[in-house]
Amino acid sequence: MRSRLWPDADRGDLARETRAFLEGSETFLDAVMIAQEEESRPIGFIEITIRAFSDGCDSMPVPHVEGWYVEEAARGRGVGRSLMRAAEDWARARGFTELASDSELDNASAQSAHKHCGFEEVDRIVKFRKRLD
Ligand SMILES: CC(C)(COP(=O)(O)OP(=O)(O)OC[C@H]1O[C@@H](n2cnc3c(N)ncnc32)[C@H](O)[C@@H]1OP(=O)(O)O)[C@@H](O)C(=O)NCCC(=O)NCCS
Repeated sequence: MRSRLWPDADRGDLARETRAFLEGSETFLDAVMIAQEEESRPIGFIEITIRAFSDGCDSMPVPHVEGWYVEEAARGRGVGRSLMRAAEDWARARGFTELASDSELDNASAQSAHKHCGFEEVDRIVKFRKRLD
């Protein structure tokens, strides 16, 4: 599912990150929730990291949704919302008062889903990079 959400990422890296989290080794991920269809295969996930800060948020540090994905066939019936609620509950239980997230500028459906789940848009940015070699 991670490689379907991030098709350009290295599959080996994605698998290593997943394995590290499941084994409890050092990883950048702070929490992962997985949606499962009645004891059957996983159909979605949400990943959270605690970031030092996030644009538009008042609190620091702040939990940030790094990945939110539901298999195409399972979309539109509340799985994504349930995952987001689980992430919110996880953050609230640890004393956090905000949850941050982001989306690609051209991912209109993800932006809409965020708004339907109670997020407000706080910023739009274009990122740059300059190689220094
Ligand atoms: C975004 C995503 C996780 C939502 O999962 P989902 O299971 O379809 O979401 P839900 O069915 O729980 O819907 C939650 C709310 O968002 C709305 N929503 C979901 N998809 C939407 C879409 N494509 N357009 C508009 N609204 C949408 C729903 O209507 C619902 O709001 P409502 O209850 O007020 O009607 C899923 O579409 C997905 O995996 N997309 C591809 C990956 C992606 O873009 N992830 C986000 C990266 S930032």
